[in-house]
Amino acid sequence: MCGIVGYVGNRNATPILIESLERLDYRGYDSAGIAVIDGCEVSLYKTAGSVGKLRQMIDLNKNGGCTGIGHTRWATHGKPSRENSHPHMGDKGIIAVVHNGIIENYEELKEELIGRGHVFSSETDTEVIPHLIEENYGGDLERAVALTLERLRGSYAIAVMCKDEPDKLVATTKDMPLVLGIGNGENYLASDVPAMLKFTNKVSYMCDEEIAVITSSSICIKNGSGGSVDKKIETVTWDAKAAEKAGYEHFMLKEIHEQPHAIRETLSGRISELEAEIKLKEIGLTERQINSISRVIITACGTSYYAAVLGRYLIEKIARIPAEAMVSSELRYGELVLDENTLVIAITQSGETADTIAALKEAKSHACHTMAIANVVGSGITRHTNNVLYTRAGLEICVAATKSFTSQIVALHLLALQMGRVRGTITPSQSKQIITQLRKLPGQVMEILEKSRGIEKVAVKYAANEHYFFIGRGINYPIAMEGALKLKEISYIHAEGYPAGELKHGPLALLTAGVPVVAISTYDNTYDKMLSNIKETKARGADVIAIADESDTNIEKYVDDVLRIPDTHEMLKPVLSAIVLQLLAYYTARHLGCEVDRPRNLAKSVTVE
Ligand code: M6R
Repeated sequence: MCGIVGYVGNRNATPILIESLERLDYRGYDSAGIAVIDGCEVSLYKTAGSVGKLRQMIDLNKNGGCTGIGHTRWATHGKPSRENSHPHMGDKGIIAVVHNGIIENYEELKEELIGRGHVFSSETDTEVIPHLIEENYGGDLERAVALTLERLRGSYAIAVMCKDEPDKLVATTKDMPLVLGIGNGENYLASDVPAMLKFTNKVSYMCDEEIAVITSSSICIKNGSGGSVDKKIETVTWDAKAAEKAGYEHFMLKEIHEQPHAIRETLSGRISELEAEIKLKEIGLTERQINSISRVIITACGTSYYAAVLGRYLIEKIARIPAEAMVSSELRYGELVLDENTLVIAITQSGETADTIAALKEAKSHACHTMAIANVVGSGITRHTNNVLYTRAGLEICVAATKSFTSQIVALHLLALQMGRVRGTITPSQSKQIITQLRKLPGQVMEILEKSRGIEKVAVKYAANEHYFFIGRGINYPIAMEGALKLKEISYIHAEGYPAGELKHGPLALLTAGVPVVAISTYDNTYDKMLSNIKETKARGADVIAIADESDTNIEKYVDDVLRIPDTHEMLKPVLSAIVLQLLAYYTARHLGCEVDRPRNLAKSVTVE
């Protein structure tokens, strides 16, 4: 959740650290700090608030030293404050540490350290780390860190520097992302690639329990047993510009507009010439294994969970395998009955969501087949399953997920089609029909984007409401939930997503005059039922906004506003409806003056439980 960065080289470290932190602040932004070694002094700058505030405190032109570490925080232990912000130091002021994760046994360690005379200045779990390293330090920082790790329980990505070894950083990780950046006469570390893209595109991903000693000219890595590790260096193809807004007012709008490309990329090379077959070698399942699967569980959190719910419908409908979707935090402690014929699919944009990774680990412990649908190549989840279907949505910076969601739905279609073809539950001609429409999706998304003005008008019309309802049936039900989540997380309007048939079992009591109800009422076998639900809500005075097919000339009679999607195969309509709802949420939040890209209390990657 927090972001850490580090630099060692021959340049002034301070502006590099600040710039790197600014690119990481989507991981958390309630306080920030850096520490730089200046000759024989450690200079520490910390503040509650954003990295921008930290930048204002510091004279960036003053060369404060060429080795440093930095941190942007999303509080877990201790309130957001200067005292609790990182870096943290020990008593003697020689060790500085930044940390992402949670030290589970910090209370007992803290008590022990206080008993030996250590004085603590924060409420954080992190602060035990520099105190322990200081105790273990006898002139060799790497060894002191290794000895300290023996005492820590929990998850961590840590970067450490020492006043007495000023040209070096030591970094280590367990269950947390940590990337090393390889420069020319300088090296970097960060929780995530965008932090260092401006400086280098050569990266190496650290694995659990490795310890890296980083100097300006070398990076030496040892594994948990002390053996040397030869790491693969990867070249990242995103350029630094991709991490910027490219002229859009917000990252969210930019990312909504990137969906035609994201969908095209996700399909690319995975559909055969004959247009009836799907090629997903990466899912790691033989035809025999696909035939032996008796149950599919799709697990995820937040928006990815709504893709999972949709995936459940697709797999049941196309591949005829019993399927269910489970929120990862429920699966991980669920004591489920799982076996080797169960396929567990984890969906995650970031690949770092702690609950999703834990759910996948739980499934593995029951010998299930596992796979992940992930967006970030080399992210944490990919270390827990060899079978990863990447969504290729590209870097997503806005906290609210958009292009990753629609790419996940497209990936789930491909998976369901492949399984359906192998199991013979879908004919080549049915498969070809869906594939032909999948290919048309990017163009249809463009059509929606070109008509955004109409969506904006509707958003503004209803923006003053305190409550919103979203209803849908079947594959439109997860879209109703996602529409509600999008609106609430960025505009702070209370919104509920409901299966339309459930309205009369409770929520109708809240439907009073003027409450907007978004009814996803595209043509399918529940269309008439949706019309009945619309009438029910209208009878209570609600204002209904329908999401409807272009060709539906009937719907206007029953509703107040209609937002249209191009006609397509009924199973692909959720992709298009989701984009309309993303724009509805975006324009509402923008009209209300909300901080669209960084909603309060939320972070992009939820790497703690
Ligand atoms: O990176 P993940 O897909 O695993 O993230 C899961 C959720 O944290 C994420 O979808 C969250 O709900 C977004 N803020 C939704 O817009």
